[in-house]
Amino acid sequence: MLKRQTIDSREYRDAMARYAGHVQIVTTAHEGVRRGVTVTAACSVSDNPGTVLVCLNHSNPLNGIFLDAGVFALNTLNARQEPLAVAFSGLDHLEVEARFGLAKWDTIATGAPALVDAAAVFDCRLIEAKPVATHTIIIGEVVGLRTGDPEPALLYLDRGYRSL
Ligand SMILES: Cc1cc2nc3c(=O)[nH]c(=O)nc-3n(C[C@H](O)[C@H](O)[C@H](O)COP(=O)(O)O)c2cc1C
Repeated sequence: MLKRQTIDSREYRDAMARYAGHVQIVTTAHEGVRRGVTVTAACSVSDNPGTVLVCLNHSNPLNGIFLDAGVFALNTLNARQEPLAVAFSGLDHLEVEARFGLAKWDTIATGAPALVDAAAVFDCRLIEAKPVATHTIIIGEVVGLRTGDPEPALLYLDRGYRSL
């Protein structure tokens, strides 16, 4: 039996800071309430059927709305949308509707808020949710899609926003 190794979580975060992630905002709406969260822990699972996953911190009770709604949209950001990423990470403590007020949103298929000029929007029906450690992995089948014109992408690397 291999001994379980203990990795210091600060060292883990320092190593992960070397990992470039595309910045996205995952959104949902339920019973008249909207929520959006800036994430980098999100990726494609499959192209047939189109499936994506997002890792959401479940120590934040506000993230329960994603499970209650059963739908979410993954909005992939362009570099010029950095102020949106900042707002939806809670850094400037705006109220939720003030955050949404910074951009234009519509809906595609599920009713989850879709950013009108995102690089791409993956509108999803939640098919599975699995708690792992501090986060819950939400898996969605893509039921609506929109792609914007090609533009520089917004990445997060070495604890800062970058454009690619
Ligand atoms: C670049 C960046 C990436 C983030 N990635 C994630 C993520 O993948 N999952 C997550 O749960 N939170 C992530 N966060 C933190 C959330 O954005 C933040 O906790 C949340 O939006 C706070 O929202 P609230 O003020 O409405 O509670 C990230 C934050 C930043 C700045």
